[in-house]
Amino acid sequence: MKAVGVKNGKGNADALFIEDGVPDPVPTSNRILVRIKAFGLNRMDIMQREDRYPYPLLPESGKIMGVEFSGIVENKGPDCSGDFQVGDKVFGLAYGGAYAQKIAVSEKMLMHLPSTLSFEEAAGIPETSFTAIQAVHLVGNLQPGQSVLIHAGASGVGQSAIQIAKVGGASTIFTTAGSDEKCDLCRSLGADFAVNYRSGEDFSEVVKRETNGRGVDLIVDLVGRDYFHRNMSSAAMDSRMVLVAALSGSKVDDFDLRALLNKRIWLMATTLRTRAADYQGQLRDLFSEKILPHIKSGEVKTTVDKVFPWTQVSDAHKRLESNVNAGKIICLVNDD
Ligand SMILES: NC(=O)c1ccc[n+]([C@@H]2O[C@H](COP(=O)([O-])OP(=O)(O)OC[C@H]3O[C@@H](n4cnc5c(N)ncnc54)[C@H](OP(=O)(O)O)[C@@H]3O)[C@@H](O)[C@H]2O)c1
Repeated sequence: MKAVGVKNGKGNADALFIEDGVPDPVPTSNRILVRIKAFGLNRMDIMQREDRYPYPLLPESGKIMGVEFSGIVENKGPDCSGDFQVGDKVFGLAYGGAYAQKIAVSEKMLMHLPSTLSFEEAAGIPETSFTAIQAVHLVGNLQPGQSVLIHAGASGVGQSAIQIAKVGGASTIFTTAGSDEKCDLCRSLGADFAVNYRSGEDFSEVVKRETNGRGVDLIVDLVGRDYFHRNMSSAAMDSRMVLVAALSGSKVDDFDLRALLNKRIWLMATTLRTRAADYQGQLRDLFSEKILPHIKSGEVKTTVDKVFPWTQVSDAHKRLESNVNAGKIICLVNDD
């Protein structure tokens, strides 16, 4: 088969190329072989491309990038017990290997493609939605009637988290984003307050004002260093903060642990790709039960920023690196 390779093993976006003669994956045990139609891009792909991925990759990850895809079932391993049949349209999560014509993944990480979704829409759903449902519900334990602050609201994870919080009955959703257009998008997805951090407005002041000084019950943070102190002032008593990424940096100056003690803040962090297949299967089931019906009905939106043919994967990576995207960047895979 063909797959996206990186010239000399690591490099910038221009180092990406379509490599021929890559061995086909084999669907052993409970794995399903899928002919890929589309894959979604994620920031971890950039780190993997540059050979600076921050966590040890599992053996299942392999060398090929890509953790989410859509496609058609081509073959099944001998131990498959689910209801996937050859020819079914599916989408799913992977430890790696989605930048290719074929992938073999555990049946626990696959879902049937709803008829209302295209291959390109579905390919960008699993990574951000599973991460968001993990942050909002499984780890963040959002309860109906609670308030939430979601940073980088127009990012893939952010957009998904806003909508998951809305469906989950959040009372007030605060968010931050880097332009007025992105803030409008966040509001259209259900945010009650969207703060353009480039306008000079301070999100912690907005939270303080709108909650009468109480703060929010849950913070989903993707930004890290630049927002840490203001997150502490935005947190309510007995609140939770779930750290999903540290886009602005990971080292926080002058952090006094008393900030946590004073308000009994639970500070948690979580990752998806490093999780066992059973855990990811649990997220898939949670997503399928709580969110997929709302995606099918159109109530929860999946925003595709731009679709590229996979022969232009370098341009797709450059767009992701430029931060201009609002939603998922997708590549369509050719069969030939
Ligand atoms: N823990 C996990 O398991 C997990 C899973 C998936 C993703 N992630 C991480 O979550 C982050 C978001 O992923 P994504 O796919 O949703 O990203 P995305 O759709 O590409 O969006 C990222 C957005 O973050 C904002 N941003 C970037 N740098 C910033 C900064 N210094 N301060 C404030 N905002 C900044 C930018 O929007 P603005 O214009 O609004 O600034 C950018 O467009 C990435 O770091 C990714 O690696 C973690």
